[in-house]
Amino acid sequence: MSGELFSEERSAEVVAASFANTPDPRLRQVLTSLVGHLHAFVKDVELTEAEWAVAIDFLTRTGHTSDAVRQEFILLSDVLGVSMLVETINHRTGGTSTESTVLGPFHMVQSPPRRLGDDIALDGKGTPCLVSGQVTGPDGEPLAGATVDVWQTNEDGFYDVQQPGIQPPGNLRGLFTADEQGRFWFRSVVPRFYPIPDDGPVGQLLAATGRHPNRPAHLHFIADAPGYRPVTTHVFVADSPYLDSDAVFGVKESLVREVPEVDDPARAAEVGLANPFRTLTFDLSLLREDRA
Ligand code: BEZ
Ligand code: FE
Repeated sequence: MSGELFSEERSAEVVAASFANTPDPRLRQVLTSLVGHLHAFVKDVELTEAEWAVAIDFLTRTGHTSDAVRQEFILLSDVLGVSMLVETINHRTGGTSTESTVLGPFHMVQSPPRRLGDDIALDGKGTPCLVSGQVTGPDGEPLAGATVDVWQTNEDGFYDVQQPGIQPPGNLRGLFTADEQGRFWFRSVVPRFYPIPDDGPVGQLLAATGRHPNRPAHLHFIADAPGYRPVTTHVFVADSPYLDSDAVFGVKESLVREVPEVDDPARAAEVGLANPFRTLTFDLSLLREDRA
């Protein structure tokens, strides 16, 4: 016999050797490392057969809960912090640009195009808020015509797609094009914290471990400009509950902003909002594509 037989002590090496002829070197590296960590984990906790059966059943139900609109595996990755880790590793900024965070499942591939100053609160409900900012490059150069894609919950903590028939389609979403100074502004409402979908296996995992399913209040942003690297991120509302215990670990300190109240009838009339209103300023800095 030329190959080494399986043993408890050398299990990972024996299985890794079976991948030795994998033509793609990256696939070989990933599988070898994965097997090493998996075997170390099984040995570390001395996994029982009953526990392995529970794990298989959990993963099977996670698959069965997923379909074209619900992705329970991504949610599992989110609550285990893997989505944030992959995101963070792949978008290191070195402090030179806006930090990224998770995309989440509520982005629309085609957000409704809007004009600067539009009100994205189509149902007129909620605490009015003026959102504005500037998109720049790493040297502070304004990115004229940058696109800013935004989506958020209403003040009850729901996205439009979660409340068909209650919220109008496209409520609290918009695709904006920044002006020649890279500036954008629009009218909206203050978002609220909300629970991630917790009626499936991932929700059961959270409940079994005493974790809550909530995310702190945030607005999602994707900013992009030709020649620059797009950033997928959020701005978090500074006084929101759950800022220090986001169910998906998405909070980064650099992304938290105060949303102060402005009580100024003249200014309210000027921006087209009811008085008093809140203001949220969020500037975005993109890396150049060739330096990313
Ligand atoms: C969100 O922010 O929309 C989100 C992110 C991860 C999981 C669920 C929701
Ligand atoms: Fe969200």
